[in-house]
Amino acid sequence: MNLYNIKHPEEQVNFAQAVRQGLGKNQGLFFPQTIPTLDNIDELLALPLLERSQKILGALIGEEIPTDTLNTMVKNAFTFPAPLAQVSDNLFALELFHGPTLAFKDFGGRFMAQALSAVRGDEKITILTATSGDTGAAVAHAFYGLENINVVILYPKGKISPLQEKLFCTLGGNIRTIAIESDFDACQALVKQAFDDEDLRQAIGLNSANSINISRLLAQVCYYFEAVAQLPVEKRQEVVVSVPSGNFGNLTAGLIAKTLGLPIKRFIASTNANDTVPRYLRSGQWQPNATVATLSNAMDVSRPNNWPRVEELFKRNGWALADLGSDALSDAETALALKAQYEEGYLCEPHGAIAYQVLKDQLQAGETGIFLCTAHPAKFKESVERILSLELPLPEALDKHNKLPLLSDTMAADFAQLKAYLLA
Ligand SMILES: Cc1ncc(COP(=O)(O)O)c(C=O)c1O
Repeated sequence: MNLYNIKHPEEQVNFAQAVRQGLGKNQGLFFPQTIPTLDNIDELLALPLLERSQKILGALIGEEIPTDTLNTMVKNAFTFPAPLAQVSDNLFALELFHGPTLAFKDFGGRFMAQALSAVRGDEKITILTATSGDTGAAVAHAFYGLENINVVILYPKGKISPLQEKLFCTLGGNIRTIAIESDFDACQALVKQAFDDEDLRQAIGLNSANSINISRLLAQVCYYFEAVAQLPVEKRQEVVVSVPSGNFGNLTAGLIAKTLGLPIKRFIASTNANDTVPRYLRSGQWQPNATVATLSNAMDVSRPNNWPRVEELFKRNGWALADLGSDALSDAETALALKAQYEEGYLCEPHGAIAYQVLKDQLQAGETGIFLCTAHPAKFKESVERILSLELPLPEALDKHNKLPLLSDTMAADFAQLKAYLLA
């Protein structure tokens, strides 16, 4: 697989280099030079998740990774299902929270850990990643205990749910976590600064596990196929998928699936009040506001990292950005959506509720809608219980970590301090 840096197309790397490096020169994102068109979509859809995913990732990554190795990587990463639940006649929920950390990031995080182990040789590696909630847990659990790989995770202090924090800040071992006294954008900026620091990069073998790493996005492509595969055949013609979006990695993966030939009519990017993209699609002006805290805190991102990849895909495929649906919900609207969903018989959490409501608002007659449920409701226990006036039992994975002490360090959003910490 050959990839180029979107900012500097002359910088070209193979899959192994892109996985190891994460970001290219000048913080440019790597993007595949070609994405094949698969002509056997129906055959693929008839296969079980694992086998199908091995074929999809094989087609994307190509000969660089031997088939047997790739098949083992996929088998080790995808150890849990992604069921499609029917909510009403033409509305389905793709449940992406059945992995070990109960969020969709388990797909990308676990596959990336496998990919990095496969391509790193004898190098020592430090994974530095920023999380607005769920990436941290997925990355920490995917890499926990892997030899010669150290993980450092930055998160905005007090701005992720206490349960989210417990899930990844209690592991210890090769996983270190830092609560940054600022917001997610500041955490992300620190990660970018670290990548720009060549000395630091070399000294600690810096790598990122954010959705900027191409291996994570490729893994996520597979569950869009799994969604369509579970639809009754007669409902596969006019499929619309609503993606709860923050950093826009998930949407990018969906667009890659469509590029491969998966029959998805259109996508909807659903956001909270951090609505840079919906406003951009309406006005043509890219004007990020200051990030605001919302109920769907994992989407509190006003400068979405993956947006250049979304635009690149639209441009390369000759698609019109005007065909990308989008809308933003306030917290009050999110709470109403969660209630409406519950009344319709489906228990969700704020991120999935936003995707559900925007989909309902924009779905047209004859279309089949799928909204992505990116986290288990219990990961947002406080807000779900308050809004729906009910009590949610903690799933075992959360309960176990909830009882352990937090091991995080605290730090100002100051690069000099972070650098000293990483070099220590
Ligand atoms: C629960 C949840 N939903 C949605 C998102 C947004 O996904 P993306 O950043 O790929 O747009 C995230 C990202 O952290 C998340 O954790």
